[in-house]
Amino acid sequence: MYEILKTFLERPAPFSAYTTADLWTDEYVSARMLEFHLDPSCDLASRRPEAIDALVKWLETHVGLAGKKVTDLGCGPGLYAERMAMHGARITGFDFSQRSLAHARRQASAKKLAIEYQHGDYLKDILPEGQNVVTLIYGDYCVLSPAQRAALLKRIHGMLKSGGHFLFDVFSRPQFGQIEEGFVCERRLMNGFWAEGDYFGFKITHRYDDQYLALDRYLIVEPKRTREIYNWMQYFAPDEIAAELSAAGFETAEIFDLTTGGKWIAKSPPFGVLARKK
Ligand SMILES: C[S@@+](CC[C@H](N)C(=O)[O-])C[C@H]1O[C@@H](n2cnc3c(N)ncnc32)[C@H](O)[C@@H]1O
Repeated sequence: MYEILKTFLERPAPFSAYTTADLWTDEYVSARMLEFHLDPSCDLASRRPEAIDALVKWLETHVGLAGKKVTDLGCGPGLYAERMAMHGARITGFDFSQRSLAHARRQASAKKLAIEYQHGDYLKDILPEGQNVVTLIYGDYCVLSPAQRAALLKRIHGMLKSGGHFLFDVFSRPQFGQIEEGFVCERRLMNGFWAEGDYFGFKITHRYDDQYLALDRYLIVEPKRTREIYNWMQYFAPDEIAAELSAAGFETAEIFDLTTGGKWIAKSPPFGVLARKK
């Protein structure tokens, strides 16, 4: 235990571990995440309904959805997919959380929406091709290393028809200023979020100031299981995003304020990005 704690408290190299799947596919944690997704007063896993409505409306206005082939990567329980389907999109939702997909399929069937949900990892599994639009919503781009981002952009480029659009959102540099380093140790940390039974939870937050990168690292110690979760969060400036997009064969069509749909100004939180395949 001494060695585990000693290593846990050391500062890891940026993006030295990728544990995102553990968060979304663990039997117990994925159920808690789904509760967050579906709670309209909570924006821990998905944005609140009014924000989801606003983003889908923005996409409808700026790109158009009727008759378009759209894939929502990391679709979760289908909150965006359903709304896009209602605008007439031919939509595929893609996610590696079987629990969220099962919920999404039940909802689509109950609402008589023709949405195809596919299970897979968008970093490595086969993705739909010939798409007009691909979406990746709620900061999923920000948890990836530079190499993973470059590889994913290449994959999305391959999914799109020429002139097709990629819509995503990122956390901004002004938000990075609010991150504070810290350490917490608590029995059943986060009110039992991490396991059904008893456990000790440790959380340490690191800032990598020169890279606008933060890490929330968790150590969860149950009677018979010990695991670590790394939540990396990269904070971006628009020109950095534009450079990554350009390197992958996209042009940046719009950088916009997710709340107003209008121009993003540097002091406001996350921004939306609409990219076009060249
Ligand atoms: C923050 S949630 C956002 C869900 C949805 N976009 C929304 O805003 O309601 C991230 C989602 O992406 C999925 N996800 C994360 N990484 C993934 C990967 N590599 N492949 C497939 N799905 C992934 C998770 O299972 C989860 O459903």
